[in-house]
Amino acid sequence: MEQTFIMIKPDGVQRGLVGEIIGRFEKKGFYLKGLKLVTVERSFAEKHYADLSSKPFFAGLVEYIISGPVVAMVWEGKNVVVTGRKIIGATNPSDSAPGTIRGDFAIEIGRNVIHGSDSIESARKEIALWFPEGIAGWQSNLHPWIYE
Ligand code: PPS
Repeated sequence: MEQTFIMIKPDGVQRGLVGEIIGRFEKKGFYLKGLKLVTVERSFAEKHYADLSSKPFFAGLVEYIISGPVVAMVWEGKNVVVTGRKIIGATNPSDSAPGTIRGDFAIEIGRNVIHGSDSIESARKEIALWFPEGIAGWQSNLHPWIYE
């Protein structure tokens, strides 16, 4: 089944939004397959955002991500990459619809609370980067109540 990498950024952790965010993914029916609180090194943040290294906001983005602990997660389910991005909302909170995480809890793009992989390929790379130890497998008993 498809997996995605979701990170609650330092502002989301500091503002006490971890439970709220996990609840939204859980209530949708997705399965939590990996979870850890981690403060990352600058070099690790630069690796995670390597594709953005030429952007003018890169340095600020890296400072933001290393400014405190983040919650790194792997979520699993049908179409979880695309649906996860819908739950998160548009990158710039000015454009995020109410009802999405960024639409409900963020104002500025540089404090947009949460990251979600933008493709299945990015998810694969990001999960390998953030969870080199691997992900423990488990099967939810709810499965027949979520999938036909
Ligand atoms: S871009 O320019 O289209 O490639 O960027 P985008 O896909 O919109 O966003 C990629 C990630 O960069 C973050 N971002 C910013 N951070 C701080 N300041 C500014 N101005 C800014 N613009 C984009 C954005 O939140 C995305 O981060 P993640 O963690 O992937 O959501």
